[in-house]
Amino acid sequence: MDIAPFHRRRLSLLQRMGAGVAVVPTAPERTRNRDTTYPYRADSYFHYLTGFPEPEAVLVLVTSELNDGPKSILFCRDKDIDKEIWDGFRHGPDGAREVFGVDEAHSIKEFDAKLAELLADQPSLWYSLGHDTAWDARVVAALNAVRAQSRAGKRAPTTLHDIRATVDAMRLVKDTDEIALMRRAADIACAAHRRAMRFTAPGRFEYEVEAGFLHEFRHNGSQYPAYPPIVAGGANACVLHYVDNNRPLNDGELLLIDAGCEVDGYASDITRTFPVNGRFSGPQADVYDLVLDAQTAAIAAIKPGASFLDPHTAAVRVLAQGMIDLKLLEGSVDGVIETAAYKRFYMHRTGHWLGLDVHDAGEYRHGPGDNDWQDLAPGMALTVEPGCYIRPGDDVPKAFWNIGVRIEDDVLVTAAGCEILTLDAPKKIADIEALMAESRHG
Ligand code: GLY
Ligand code: MN
Ligand code: MN
Repeated sequence: MDIAPFHRRRLSLLQRMGAGVAVVPTAPERTRNRDTTYPYRADSYFHYLTGFPEPEAVLVLVTSELNDGPKSILFCRDKDIDKEIWDGFRHGPDGAREVFGVDEAHSIKEFDAKLAELLADQPSLWYSLGHDTAWDARVVAALNAVRAQSRAGKRAPTTLHDIRATVDAMRLVKDTDEIALMRRAADIACAAHRRAMRFTAPGRFEYEVEAGFLHEFRHNGSQYPAYPPIVAGGANACVLHYVDNNRPLNDGELLLIDAGCEVDGYASDITRTFPVNGRFSGPQADVYDLVLDAQTAAIAAIKPGASFLDPHTAAVRVLAQGMIDLKLLEGSVDGVIETAAYKRFYMHRTGHWLGLDVHDAGEYRHGPGDNDWQDLAPGMALTVEPGCYIRPGDDVPKAFWNIGVRIEDDVLVTAAGCEILTLDAPKKIADIEALMAESRHG
């Protein structure tokens, strides 16, 4: 394991903190039922700063003011041979210090007492207050333990910073190690979408297609899906977060699949929509090409200095015009945008930050004004995912009823503009139909 990126990030955070102590706990294990837990996933902030994979751990960073230099201190589970026989390897503090390159490592049992020592006479605490009540109670107890020693001259920190805001700003711009992992997550998910296009046929079930994704992800070294896959045939595509995935796929319907995987914590997030029988009908192609045109316009708007909102604005303009042309809406483009009538068929935003979390950390705005959207800069990663979802209605042309289309790619902002990380999943009608025809004719 290359510990250099984690070391660099801790140093960068220590510099941003000025003077004080940071406390970054990892996620707890969670019970699924009785004595079975959900698959364990570290907290994203903790992972970003340590790479340490075990539960019951917390990172403490102490700036140099009262030390001989800044320090990274990890608290983790002790080695325990009996537990390791049942549940697997534990690094223990000594192993963790060696493998993960922290300055000190101690048993998690020592955390409460040591935190009170470390907080004494420090001006500020950096912590995610409110995220987890159990950790909040421990941190408050440590603060109160320092306050109880005021007659001995000890002072507790008087300033509390939300550490998430500071680390979010770091996480918003990906480093080269993060980008490499995101490329792998993107490549694996693209291969899974190609596999789904080859496999899909009338009579298959949504869950059979889902199974292909789970296989392709795990087979290629992804640890988990980045979120529950959406495999939505026909009208189900108009349910934005459809995850039942239990219906048969019918001839003549579209299939919308939103599925991405996680590689060493980093997510991909891809949506493709294609015909179950391998050939788009006329109305399906009309809606599909409209969404693809909107996506092309949105991606063209991504470059350093543009705002986070620009791709959305570009996509909405194309979609609004298309909805008028297809007689889904009446009026002018400006009017349809002004009244937000387009939201009947396109009700979500065109993208979000992507990284350790599928809806990743980072501010979208720095104020309430129209021009207060985050500017794009090289290293930022975002999705571009316009859609059009047409539920039946007396005022809606019948040919479009129950057509739901979304096309989603993962895009990295570069100095020159942007790079699409998920190009290997076909999205032009001709390319999709060619791939599906290939698999049908051997
Ligand atoms: N798959 C979740 C999203 O597209 O935002
Ligand atoms: Mn997305
Ligand atoms: Mn998605």
